[in-house]
Amino acid sequence: MTTPSADDRRTRSGDRREPTTGRDAGVETRIEHDDGPASADGLEYEVVTTPVLVVGAGAAGARVAIELAESGVESLVIGKRDHGDAHTTWAAGGINAALGSLDDEDDWTIHAADTLNEGHHLNDPDAVELTAKHMPDRIRELEAWGTPFDRTEDGRINQRYFGAQSYRRTCFVGDRTGEAMLETLVDRARELEIPKRENVMITRLLSDGERVAGAVGFDMESGRGLLFRSNHVVLAAGGFSALYRRHSSRDDENNGDAQALALEAGARLLDLEFVQFHPTGMVGERYGDEWDGRLVTEAVRGEGGRLYNEAGERFMERYSPDQMELDARDVVARAIAREIEEGRGTEHGGVYLDISHRDADYVRERLPTMVDRFASLGVDITEEPIEVAPTAHYTMGGVDVDFRNGETGVDGLYAVGETVAGVHGANRLGGNSLAETVAIGKLVGDHVGSVIGADDAEPDVTDEHRVLAEREFLALESLADATGDVTPRELLADLGEVLWDHAGILRDEAGLRAGLEELDALRERTADLHVDGGLTSKSFEYAVDLSVSLTVAETMLRTALERTESRGAHYRTDFPETDEAWRANLVVSVDDGERSIRRRGVADPSPAVREALEAGYELDYHHLE
Ligand code: FUM
Repeated sequence: MTTPSADDRRTRSGDRREPTTGRDAGVETRIEHDDGPASADGLEYEVVTTPVLVVGAGAAGARVAIELAESGVESLVIGKRDHGDAHTTWAAGGINAALGSLDDEDDWTIHAADTLNEGHHLNDPDAVELTAKHMPDRIRELEAWGTPFDRTEDGRINQRYFGAQSYRRTCFVGDRTGEAMLETLVDRARELEIPKRENVMITRLLSDGERVAGAVGFDMESGRGLLFRSNHVVLAAGGFSALYRRHSSRDDENNGDAQALALEAGARLLDLEFVQFHPTGMVGERYGDEWDGRLVTEAVRGEGGRLYNEAGERFMERYSPDQMELDARDVVARAIAREIEEGRGTEHGGVYLDISHRDADYVRERLPTMVDRFASLGVDITEEPIEVAPTAHYTMGGVDVDFRNGETGVDGLYAVGETVAGVHGANRLGGNSLAETVAIGKLVGDHVGSVIGADDAEPDVTDEHRVLAEREFLALESLADATGDVTPRELLADLGEVLWDHAGILRDEAGLRAGLEELDALRERTADLHVDGGLTSKSFEYAVDLSVSLTVAETMLRTALERTESRGAHYRTDFPETDEAWRANLVVSVDDGERSIRRRGVADPSPAVREALEAGYELDYHHLE
C-alpha cells in the first residue's frame, strides 16, 4: 500500500490501530475479528461480524442503535469521523413537535398538514403522520435523556416560529440544537455500551441484489481493509447537498455515498430532483471563502429577522405579503435569487438579513452561535445586518423505503434519516429533519430488533463474501495508486460548478442536458486521476467520494430532466406551473445494469390529516410584529 505523504495525511495517531472494533470506554463486545491474512495472495484485512451494522453515526444512526440496544440487540455503529462528530452537529435552529407549549391549538395533525403542504403533496403520508404523531414523545424522551431544551418562564419546553409552520412548533437549544441533541444521543449510547467504530469509510455493500450480507470498506487511519459481515445493515449516512459548489454541509460529507451504495446493492431511489436551497447561507465574498454557503439559521428569521435588498426594500413584501420572511424555504430562496439576479443584491452577491431591531440581550440569548460566529468575523449582529444568499442545504430525495420499518426492498438492508426520501416530499419544513431522525429512527430500530434471528448473532463468513471483499480491496488499492494528472479534489470542485450552474434553484431542459454532457466529460477525466498519499490520505477519500458523487449527480440531473413541472424545490423555468398529473414520485432503479426512471402515484393522507388540510391553517406573519 502507498505511504501517505506528510502533507496529505489525515490526522492520525500513529501506525495501524489495534483491531479494537466494538470497544468504547473500556467496554468489550462480542464482535469478532479475524486479523490474519485472509487470502491466498496474502491480502490482509480485518473481518468483523455483528448482528446489525449501522452505517452512519449521526442522530438517525444513533437513535436506531439505541432502540436496538434497549431491546437487547447488539449493533455496531460506524462513522466516517470521530465519535460524536457527525453532521447532525451542524443542524442549528430546532426540531419540530406539536407540543403546543405556546400555541395550544397546535396538534400533530396540523404538523402533518404543514409538512404535506410544504412538501407539495409528494410526501409519503404514512411517513409524515408517523413523524408528526411520534414527535411529542421523542422530544420528552430527549429531554429525559438530558437535552437542555430552552424553557418558557413557566417551565415548558419553549418553541419558536420556523418558516411555513402554522404555529410555534420548533423546540430548540439556542441555535445549537443538533449538537445538543447528538450529545444526548451519544451519551445515551455510551450508557447502553453500544459498540462503535470511528473513521471508517464504506465503499460497497455485500449484496446479490436480493439480500444484503454486510459491507466492505477501509479504516481511514490505517488504510486497512474491513469486511463487515452482518445480515442486517442500516444506512444512515446522510444526503448529497455537498455535491453543490455552494452548500451548508461540511465539505467532505453529504456527498451521496448512502444513495450510491443503496442503488448499487439493488435498492430504489426516489425523487432525487428535489434539493433544498436554504435561503440564508453566508456570502463568501464578504466573510471569506471558508464560510461561503455556511448556514445562517432560519431561527434568525424565526426570531424576527428581516430581509432587505441593497436599496433597503423589504422585498418579501412583493413576493409573499402574508408570510414574508417566514414563507417556505423555496419561496424565500427564489425571491433572494431573483433580487440578486436582477441587480438589487449587495456588491458581494447577497442580500441583507437584519435582526438588529430586536433587543440585543434577546438576540444573544436566542442566537448565541450566530452572535459569536459573526463577532469572530468582526460583525455584531445585534447592531448591523449580515449578508446572505441561498445555499444547497438538504436533499429531500433518497432511498425508497417503507417508513414503518425502514425496509428498502433488498432483504436485510434498511435506511433512515436524510439518506431516504418520503417525509419531506418536494420541499422540507425547517425543523423536520432532526424530527425525522429520531421519530423514524426509533421505529426502524424497533423493527430490526424484532426480526433478528438466532443465526444473525454470529453470521458465517463464506468464501463468496471474501472474494467480493477482496475484489473491492484490490480496486481500492489500485485507485490509491492512481498516478494521472488530475486530482479528485479538482474534479469534485468542477462537479460542484456543474450542479450549481445546471441543477440549481432554477433549471430548464437546455441547462440540464448541458449538465449531463459536462458530467460525461468529467467522467472521462477520471481516467487520468492522480491520488496523492495512499489509502489514508484525504486525496484518496476524495477519489472514493468522486465515484459515488458522479453516480448520484447523474441520477439527479436525469430525474430533474424527467419532471416537466415546477413543484417545491424543483423549479423549471420552462415548465413554471405545478401539474396535477405530476403528483407522482420518480422511482429510480437499476436492472441488469440499466437505469430506469418511472412514475409512481402518491397515497392519500388519513381522514384526520385531510381534515387539518381542509381547515387551511397557515402562519400569519403579521401578528408576530
Ligand atoms: O436554519 C436552520 O436552522 C436549519 C434547520 C433545518 O434545516 O431544519
